[in-house]
Amino acid sequence: MNILVVGGGGREHAIIKKLRENPNVKNIYALPGNGGISYEATLINISPLDLDSIINYVSENTIDFAVIAPDDPLVLGLTDRLLEKGIPTFGPTKKAAIIEGSKVFSKQLMKKYNIPTADYEIFDNPKDAINYIKEKNRFPIVVKADGLALGKGVLISQNLEEAQEAVNSIMVERAFGDSGKRVVIEEFLQGPEVTVLAFTDSKTIVPMVSSMDHKRALDGDLGLNTGGMGVIAPNPYYTDDIARRCQEEIFIPTINAMNNEDRPFKGCLYFGLMLTEEGPKVIEYNCRFGDPEAQVVLPLLESDLLDIMQAVYEERLNEVEVKFKDSAACCLIAASGGYPKDYKKGYKITGLSDAISTGALIYHAGTKIVDNELVTSGGRVLGVTAIKPTLEDAVSHAYKAMEKIHFENMHYRKDIGKRALTVVRRK
Ligand code: AMP
Ligand code: GLY
Repeated sequence: MNILVVGGGGREHAIIKKLRENPNVKNIYALPGNGGISYEATLINISPLDLDSIINYVSENTIDFAVIAPDDPLVLGLTDRLLEKGIPTFGPTKKAAIIEGSKVFSKQLMKKYNIPTADYEIFDNPKDAINYIKEKNRFPIVVKADGLALGKGVLISQNLEEAQEAVNSIMVERAFGDSGKRVVIEEFLQGPEVTVLAFTDSKTIVPMVSSMDHKRALDGDLGLNTGGMGVIAPNPYYTDDIARRCQEEIFIPTINAMNNEDRPFKGCLYFGLMLTEEGPKVIEYNCRFGDPEAQVVLPLLESDLLDIMQAVYEERLNEVEVKFKDSAACCLIAASGGYPKDYKKGYKITGLSDAISTGALIYHAGTKIVDNELVTSGGRVLGVTAIKPTLEDAVSHAYKAMEKIHFENMHYRKDIGKRALTVVRRK
């Protein structure tokens, strides 16, 4: 089979490595891929947002199955375009991807179907938004841009002044463009965060192993929000009891709600959850695998990924096995110093073969090959994943492997998994 994988980060590298385990997979085309992916797939130099060029490409080449990994082409409707061309595709249609594409949509969906989430109001002009914040007068308060914002559209304000700045930056200065036409202002929730990715064909929903992302740039959860600086799985806060509750109160109701709205969701649905004192609540939905969550969840997957993806497409997910290893995983992100703000690119990366020889898995994100040398080309550069029977060993192995890797201005957090380990030790 010839498979097309759209996207070019660590998540896509993890998807491609997993797809390679299926003996029927002959060629993988990564669009656009990255330096590391070029060792296991053919790179297609087209932007994931250039839908017309992608459709031209698939018209001229034989593609048996497509996997769309990033949010923006899904929200733009790439799945719909590929399906129109008769190409079996893993990833939700535009109508379903709105669950991530519009926070206004997802909040209204949760309210309508009684899915637990933070209390909120929606505003389409800054004056009303600020009046509401003044009336509420409860801080911290959370201001979210309605549309996609590269994971940066959520601003948590500690006081009125900060909240006014947040509304101004999103709605007036349009820091995230048209994504800021409307905002959701919501209650600040507290508790441990859990990511649960789930395969769903709109009839059946199968949660994968839970994980814990570390979104802030610096140790101790300080610094700016990033796409994710490291992740562990399984998440020790996510007990069997909580998992059962989430399945009943959140996962199944979400699938039913989407069906009821005539927006059946097929693909990977990402539940960003907060375990509050009142019970688990949804912080956000994403219409795709998380990055770096995929870099711990997929290597723990024992079953065949392509079989599952095909079953999702054919709406027979209930017929396939989705089994995970009874092990733990830790993925550390090596980032360019300065990320998520400004950073320099083009630095030579060394030590990868030493890191690999420890048994760790290396997923490339912002890397490219220039004159036969691997150099940095993005904010998040590499993910280093270790799989071990215990979380403690997975974390220490990942750090050992990371210490072998070098590039100028390299930055990684030194405390990934620390909080989770205190819970594991308490248990
Ligand atoms: P999101 O992009 O919606 O996942 O938000 C990014 C991060 O902001 C989340 O992972 C949370 O840590 C935090 N966050 C979002 N909404 C809330 C909320 N209502 N209360 C507290 N923290 C939140
Ligand atoms: N790691 C967070 C995300 O993929 O949205």
